Formats: sequence, C-alpha cells, structure tokens
Amino acid sequence: MSLFNKKSDEKSLQVKIPLHLGIIMDGNGRWAQKRMLPRSAGHKAGAQTFRKITRYCSNIGVKYLTVYAFSTENWKRPNEEVSALMNLFKSYLEEALADFKDDSIVVRFIGDKSQFSDELQNLMVKNEESSKDRDGMVLNIAMNYGSRDEIVRAVKIISSKVKSGELNEDDITEDIISSYLYTSGQPDPDLIIRPSGEYRISNFLLWQCAYSEFVIMNKLWPDFTTDDLDEALEIFSKRNRRFGGV
Ligand code: FPP
Repeated sequence: MSLFNKKSDEKSLQVKIPLHLGIIMDGNGRWAQKRMLPRSAGHKAGAQTFRKITRYCSNIGVKYLTVYAFSTENWKRPNEEVSALMNLFKSYLEEALADFKDDSIVVRFIGDKSQFSDELQNLMVKNEESSKDRDGMVLNIAMNYGSRDEIVRAVKIISSKVKSGELNEDDITEDIISSYLYTSGQPDPDLIIRPSGEYRISNFLLWQCAYSEFVIMNKLWPDFTTDDLDEALEIFSKRNRRFGGV
C-alpha cells in the first residue's frame, strides 16, 4: 500500500491515478529461466503478482484495469506451456478471483472465449455473471485476445448491420467502431505499463491506445511490486498529455 503509506510525502500526493490502466504482464518465462525453473513456474509467480497488483490498483482508485494474460498468438507456444497456463487460469477462475469480491471488483474477459475448453468458458461466464453488479474497479482480463482480431470482429459486425440496413455507412464514426470492441463503453487507457524492458505493444489495445502514455519498466513481471507501480504512476503524472493539441 505504498502510495497511501506515503501520504505525508507531498510528491506522492501529486500522483495522478489513471482512470484506465493497461498492463502487459511480460517476463514470466525469463524470470523462470534465470532460476533454472520451467516456464510454467514463471507464470505461477506471475499470477501471484497479478493478484497483488490488481488489489493495489483497486485500492488506489484505478477504475478500469486491463491485463494481458493470453494473446491470440500464445497458442503457438509448446503444448506443455499452453496446458500449464490453462490449468493456472482454471485454478484462478475457480478460487482466486473470488478474492476480488471483497474489493467489489467487476471481472470481465476480453477476447475470443470460444477457443477455450467448455470448462474454462463456463468459469469465465460464471465470474462475469457473479461480479457484474459490483460497484468497484472493472478488471478486464485479456484472454485469447488480439487487437487485430478484435478489430476484424468489429468490422464484420458493422458490415452485417450495414448490409441489413440497421446502420448507414455514413453513420460509421470512431465512436461506432469503439462501441463494437470488447472494451465498449469503457474509456481508452490513459497509461499502459510494460515490464520486462520490451518496447513493443504486441497486439494489445491497438485502437484504444491511440493517446495512451507508455511506461516501460526494467523488471520482469513476477518481480514487479507496488513500488514499481508507484514509480510508473509518478512518471505518468509528469507527462504532458496533449491529445494532438498544443
Ligand atoms: C508473458 O510472459 C506472459 C504470459 C504469456 C502469461 C501471463 C499470465 C499470467 C501472468 C498468469 C496470470 C493471469 C491470470 C489471469 C490468472 P512471457 O512468457 O512471454 O515471458 P518471456 O517474454 O520472459 O518469455
């Protein structure tokens, strides 16, 4: 709870809390490799960090948090790693997400659920249903998510509506396109954090990040702490956001 513990520190009081924060949870594999452990051990450690950082974000007043857990491209990883990740997701959806009830966190999954096992799909729906009336932070867990895939899906829905006459071509605006993305109705991310030192967006929220600020941190995700998040927020707070203006 470092931001709150430092309340007497004038500098920390000036920290701006993003309305919507995105996190690319990267570096689990390298964390495990450094310790001569299987990559799955890195994902397990990363899942603990996810739990800690999510609760912290909710406590400091982030309203929307989107975490990248599994991309449309991650299926290309070795079977052993994919199945370890699926087991991890399953155990999280069965138990750990229930934790978020105390913080009134609304859990949503963004991405194409249909590629997951029936069991995982049911758990996702169950989590979304049971948390939908809560009034806390919205947690979007991006699973089998790819931003290009999301845009293709939106274009298909919009074109079928134009075809059926439900929508006129001239009515297609940026807001209409946003409204057919998985993040429909949510503000665009103000800040995207990528730990692990990689300078890439990796097919994450491509449409939504048009004016997001980026902070790259040199920490592998399992080692990422609330102090690292505070540091990213301090960097973000000093940015001069102009949204294309002057
Ligand atoms: C990227 O690191 C991380 C992933 C592909 C998986 C992220 C998943 C978790 C943190 C598990 C917890 C999530 C939930 C929702 C329970 P990488 O494997 O690409 O790392 P590397 O770049 O070092 O190889």
